[in-house]
Amino acid sequence: MPKISRRTAELPASPIRKLAPLAAKAKQEGKTVYNLNIGQPDIPTPRSFMEGVRNANLSVLSYSPSPGLPETLQALRGYYAEWGIDIPIQEMCVTIGGSEAFTFAMKAALDAGDELIVPEPFYPNYRGYACLTNVKLVPITTYAEDGFHLPGAAEIEAKITPRTRAFLFSNPGNPTGVVYTRAELERIASLAVKHDLFVISDEVYREFVYEGEPISVFQFPKLREHAILVDSISKRLSACGARVGVIASRNAEVMDAVNRMAQTRLSPPTFGQLGLVAFLADPDHKKAVDSMIAKFRSRRDTLFRAIRTIPGVVCERPAGAFYVIAKLPIDDAEDFVRFLLTDFDGGGETVMLAPGTGFYQTPGRGKDEVRIAYVLEEEKLVRAVELLKQGLVQYSKARAKVEAAA
Ligand SMILES: Cc1ncc(COP(=O)(O)O)c(C=O)c1O
Repeated sequence: MPKISRRTAELPASPIRKLAPLAAKAKQEGKTVYNLNIGQPDIPTPRSFMEGVRNANLSVLSYSPSPGLPETLQALRGYYAEWGIDIPIQEMCVTIGGSEAFTFAMKAALDAGDELIVPEPFYPNYRGYACLTNVKLVPITTYAEDGFHLPGAAEIEAKITPRTRAFLFSNPGNPTGVVYTRAELERIASLAVKHDLFVISDEVYREFVYEGEPISVFQFPKLREHAILVDSISKRLSACGARVGVIASRNAEVMDAVNRMAQTRLSPPTFGQLGLVAFLADPDHKKAVDSMIAKFRSRRDTLFRAIRTIPGVVCERPAGAFYVIAKLPIDDAEDFVRFLLTDFDGGGETVMLAPGTGFYQTPGRGKDEVRIAYVLEEEKLVRAVELLKQGLVQYSKARAKVEAAA
């Protein structure tokens, strides 16, 4: 039998989706599962977006130009201008979600064997793609105790080798909720300039900032040739299925490479682009996003308050995105998440979380951590945390029984 390639054989399954079959089984058995494992917002997609799709009135659903429809690029230019970011349309390309944008960014910046420095814990698909492109991820470990902020310049610089080509991070951060300060970004920017490295900044959670300010990589003039911006409408418009993202760079060679890559996949999705144009044409579009952010801020506060009541749980209040990493008083969070889905008795209800190890590159890190996505209504979040609390008690009793019998 022919063998599949090594790079796909070694590609890890998504740690976020890995335990999904157990959740599906629990649901089949009639249990209610509160899904806090995945960053799928529950907020309705704005009506103006949906109407833009509905009113598309196309006789042929044709390919759009590879970099995106001109009206979408113009609308995006206007959106960035609202944030004080000037991006001429030739410096951006519409992509198939932020996912394609970061794959383009990595392909444009790195060759096989090159090194990419990334603060851990990080969004797990960075690893998937590094594996597919034979790029080595070099982690900078960040800690809950420091609010997952970056270490000093010397510690970061120590990671740079002759094979280093770029930094990659999400800001605001998934899975940590960290929002980097200007000083932290300045640290990265100075090192990038000093060592001639790209800075790939994944800003898909730009609006989701509850404390601090969202600072774009495009707001550092010295990074003119170094900055690559990755963006997406998935989260801010609660439009994950639209598959519309953006890659932007002021570096003409990068954009030339991106446009050639874009041609190989022909075009980004037409309906999603038209929905976005309609959304941005609505004079109230900012209000719609603001009210969604207010909801997430309130959810964060509710979740954080509830989690703090669980004995032995350590977590810092996140400043952005819609995730929190919690350290649990257990040894193996993946085993615990399995337990919640299989053996836990929560009166017909349970909760699903994402085990922490999948967010780290360093082996062994994150074993006692879970990522919680606060993507449900507040009453549901409170109930889910109550189930988590009960689950911890039942789990430690079950473990004690196993240990006593051994
Ligand atoms: C940090 C981060 N970047 C990129 C993405 C990709 O999003 P999409 O491809 O839906 O735009 C996600 C999705 O969860 C994410 O959390």
